[in-house]
Amino acid sequence: MKAVTINTLKTLKIQGEKFPVITAYDASFSRLIEHAGIEVMLVGDSLGNVIQGHGSTVPVTMDDMVYHTRAVQRGNSKSLIIADLPFMAYATEEQTMANAAELMQAGAHMVKLEGGAWLEETILMLSERGIPVCGHLGLTPQSVNKLGGYKVQGKDDEAADQMISDAHLLEEAGIDLLVLECVPSALAKQITDELQIPVIGIGAGPDTDAQVLVIYDMLGISPRMPKFSKNFLAETGSVEKALSAYASEVRAGTFPELEHGFK
Ligand code: KIV
Repeated sequence: MKAVTINTLKTLKIQGEKFPVITAYDASFSRLIEHAGIEVMLVGDSLGNVIQGHGSTVPVTMDDMVYHTRAVQRGNSKSLIIADLPFMAYATEEQTMANAAELMQAGAHMVKLEGGAWLEETILMLSERGIPVCGHLGLTPQSVNKLGGYKVQGKDDEAADQMISDAHLLEEAGIDLLVLECVPSALAKQITDELQIPVIGIGAGPDTDAQVLVIYDMLGISPRMPKFSKNFLAETGSVEKALSAYASEVRAGTFPELEHGFK
C-alpha cells in the first residue's frame, strides 16, 4: 500500500470504491493494520472505554490523545491517521488551535471533532490553517450526558433534516471526511449520496463510502459487542486474518449486513 492521503480517499469515493477504517491505540496494532492494507486509522477517544475502562469518553484528556497518537504513528507509515480532539479540547478558538496543532505534531494527519452547526467557524479556522478535519454527526459520545444515553440519532423527520443540513454546512466549512455514528441506514445513504467528501459509517448501514469499527469490538474482546459490530477474530482465528477479513468485507460491501444497521 502507498502512503494514503486525503486525495486517495476522495478518489476512492469518486470511483465508488469502499474503504475500511479502524481504531488504533498503540504501535503493535498499528503495524498489523498497515500489513492488512487498511487505508485509515482512527486514534479514537474510545480509548477511554476500551483502554482505560471508563464508562464514557468524557474523562479522556489531550495528554492521553497525544500519547496514543505518538505510539500509533510509530507503528505505521502508510495508513492515514485521524486523531480525536477529546471532550472540551475544542470549546474555544485558542484551545482548538493549540490542541489540534499538538495532535498534528504528535503524528496525526487529520483531527476529528464531534458536533454540527456550532463548529462552522472552528472548521473554517482549522482548514484555512492547513489542518484537515473529520466531522462526526449522529451519536456523538462526548455529548452522552446531554443526549441522555447511547441512542440511535436522526430517527424522526425533524432530527433527520437537521442532520442533513449540518452535514452540508460542515462540508461547506471545509471538513474532508465525515463520520456518521448510529443513524438510520436510509438517512446515512442520503447524506452519503449528497456529499462530495467520503462518509464513514459506524452503525449507519451498508451505503456509506467507508466503515469504521473499534478494533477491540471486532476482535471480540470488548465486554459488550455493539449490534453494529462483528467478531472477525472468532471467524478467522488470528488478529492478522481478522483485520484482512474486515478490510475485504468492507471493500466487497458484504459488511455491514442489514442486521448491523438501524431502521
Ligand atoms: O472514538 C472513536 O473510536 C470513534 C469511533 C467510534 C467513530 O469516534
